[in-house]
Amino acid sequence: MTIRFGIIGLGNRGYKYALKTIQQSPDCEIEMVCDVAGKNFHQFEGVSTTRIYQEVLDNPNVDAVFIATPDGTHAEIIAACIRADKHILCEKPVEITEEKLKQIYQQAKDYSKVIEIGYVLRYARLFKKVKEFLENGVIGELVMVRATDHIPYGGYAYFHDWHRQRSLSGSLLLQKATHTLDLVNWYADSQPSEIMGFGGLAVMGEPGAQKKFGKPVDKALRCRDCLIKETCEESIVYLAKEKGLTWGEEWPDSCVFSSEVDVEDHQSIMIRYKNDVKLSYQLCQFSGFYQREFQFYGTMGELHFDDQTNEITIYSRTKQEIVTYKSSYVEKNMEPGDAEQLEDFVQAIQTGTPPLSTLKSGVIAGLTAIAAQKSIDTMEIQTLPVF
Ligand SMILES: NC(=O)c1ccc[n+]([C@@H]2O[C@H](COP(=O)([O-])OP(=O)(O)OC[C@H]3O[C@@H](n4cnc5c(N)ncnc54)[C@H](O)[C@@H]3O)[C@@H](O)[C@H]2O)c1
Repeated sequence: MTIRFGIIGLGNRGYKYALKTIQQSPDCEIEMVCDVAGKNFHQFEGVSTTRIYQEVLDNPNVDAVFIATPDGTHAEIIAACIRADKHILCEKPVEITEEKLKQIYQQAKDYSKVIEIGYVLRYARLFKKVKEFLENGVIGELVMVRATDHIPYGGYAYFHDWHRQRSLSGSLLLQKATHTLDLVNWYADSQPSEIMGFGGLAVMGEPGAQKKFGKPVDKALRCRDCLIKETCEESIVYLAKEKGLTWGEEWPDSCVFSSEVDVEDHQSIMIRYKNDVKLSYQLCQFSGFYQREFQFYGTMGELHFDDQTNEITIYSRTKQEIVTYKSSYVEKNMEPGDAEQLEDFVQAIQTGTPPLSTLKSGVIAGLTAIAAQKSIDTMEIQTLPVF
């Protein structure tokens, strides 16, 4: 049975996942696309288009919906999909507030159709292989994890548009770190119990403006109109020229040093899990190089990996033995795991088996990031309820 998709949200993620993954799958076809601003309609020749998502849900030929709208719109659209009885593949994070996460979980937990959340790294080969090694006990019992997200283009990716405002994205812990936090929840095979963190703005936002200009910048300032667009290291003009970062023709360009920025550009988080595993995590939006890096410490050894060398190294504590695993698989999609995630979604629809990334695990990942941000804001340790 071919799964006929409706796509809601055709921004950076939505249209690429639709074209590179859904449209390429032999099991899927795109029936209808929707974007409130009419973005990227031209990429979908012969497919019906709408700016009103309810029209996708009212279409009886749509079996499943892919939601790729901004984070703070997901719960409303998931609820509408449930009313319309559609299968749902929704981008991460599930939502941006604790209230909305808990509410949508209650509304959807007994839904009979598939709900899968786009924690795509659970599906990527290297990350799945790590899970397999840990489950096979190669380092004994897992005790501690250290994880780091290094992002050299944080300004470019998150500080020119809606991601930079807490009212729209929650925080960059919820937007970016959420992948790593979800992975550690999965690897530890447990739920966070106590969470604490520190964070702040060092390079972007008003602190950055004070350092660079000695005063705040006008809220309406955009790179395209800025006098220093050729030399400012955060300008999209400079980055396109110097670093080849050209992800979209209409890439947003509000000044990253604006006082409107109220998310943070660096965070350091500690978590103790219900099974006593401990995590130490750092997110940096202004690093010198890109990497997602993990070290796992077990009773019998260590496992290290990162997503740039694509290597997993296992160090035994009891023998003179180091094992290295290198993934030779070349990812073709926007994100590693994109195609495998879609396969899991299709399989869940066709066989009734639950997906690997469920609404429940997505809600827990979201609550983890929100609790971490709350700890930074209140300087108090946060606790998560048992789900
Ligand atoms: N899994 C991943 O690796 C990954 C990567 C990037 C983005 N994302 C997620 O994908 C989602 C979209 O992110 P993005 O970077 O593409 O954002 P974006 O701002 O580029 O695109 C969002 C699109 O949604 C449209 N939109 C907004 N409200 C709408 C509504 N009510 N109905 C229809 N269309 C609406 C906007 O016009 C815009 O075109 C976010 O939840 C983000 O966290 C996931």
